[in-house]
Amino acid sequence: MKKILVTGGCGYIGSHTIVDLINNGYEVISIDNLSRGFQQTINGVSAIVGKTVKNYIVDICNLEDVRAVFEENLDIVGIIHFAAYKSVPESVSQPLEYFRNNITSLLNILECAKEYDVKNIVFSSSCSVYGNADVLPVTEATPLKEVQSPYARTKVMGEEICGDYIKANPGFKVILLRYFNPVGAHPTSLIGELNQKPENLVPIITQTAIGKRDSMTVFGNDYDTRDGSCIRDYIHVMDIANAHTKAVTKSIADELPSDCELYNLGTGNGVTVLELIKTFEEVSKTKLNYTIGGRREGDIIAVYANNDKAKNELGWNCQYNVEAMMDTAWKWELQLASTAKKVLLN
Ligand code: WQD
Repeated sequence: MKKILVTGGCGYIGSHTIVDLINNGYEVISIDNLSRGFQQTINGVSAIVGKTVKNYIVDICNLEDVRAVFEENLDIVGIIHFAAYKSVPESVSQPLEYFRNNITSLLNILECAKEYDVKNIVFSSSCSVYGNADVLPVTEATPLKEVQSPYARTKVMGEEICGDYIKANPGFKVILLRYFNPVGAHPTSLIGELNQKPENLVPIITQTAIGKRDSMTVFGNDYDTRDGSCIRDYIHVMDIANAHTKAVTKSIADELPSDCELYNLGTGNGVTVLELIKTFEEVSKTKLNYTIGGRREGDIIAVYANNDKAKNELGWNCQYNVEAMMDTAWKWELQLASTAKKVLLN
């Protein structure tokens, strides 16, 4: 069985990707220092796949500690590097922490890949690199506008570092995956997005609907869009996960057009904030308590993907629609509440 190292495996997208990798015949280990991830998440992964998935509680910014993991796992054939801080507002207030953590961890992973001859690398990037693109949908060839946050800048720098690394190391391959807005949860509700104080839309919707929050704010309805609220390309986290399995499989099989390829991971459909809320209310049969507020600093007005390249070159297709995204997100929130109640009652 081929072994894949997933960094950030106790996080939202990393955990769902581990499930998909194992379901597709891979052996997986994780490195996650639990600074943003949770042990309960990898426990949920183990419950879903029916075997224990090992997580090394290691700070990837510590090169010696990362080397020790590779030393213990000389049969790693691929790396999927998720581990990074990803809060846009936090990156604005703590830019140096974001550059230190997100760039140092990438450099250490690339260093170990070279030392241990692991030639297949997937890098977690983001649609935030596009900024406010002039033309939509964005393709992989769309010129990058000025990024809106240090977080997005660490992703632009990460992609450039990977490109230079490949040029200096013939035979190594890096795939850059630009996620749009990952949402939803695994259909079992055993794993999902865990964040007590989320800043992103869907967990705020579900926390408001379940009563963890009294209400939520729609940040602006005066944008130049069909209903005045911002447009995003929401994509189910399980579709994002499967794209990683497809990408690393193609890389290992040497079936990609070049040694450094870039792919948009979006559905191709732009959905407004108000449309998403309406879909959530229909799916959950719950009325959401929200108000219309002012615009949020740094928000992109509209961004959604042209995903033809990933479809054609990775053989990847989205399986989940917006209703399924909202349904699994809601069922995850209900599961959290029920688990919390059990803990309180015990
Ligand atoms: C979406 C829309 C908000 C909260 C995401 C991730 C970020 C990065 C880039 C991965 C916006 C509106 C939100 C609320 C609202 N991901 N909103 N009320 O900004 O696209 O950033 O993609 O690399 O980590 O968060 O996502 O969910 O924060 O916002 O009206 O309480 O929802 O204004 O228009 P965003 P988001």
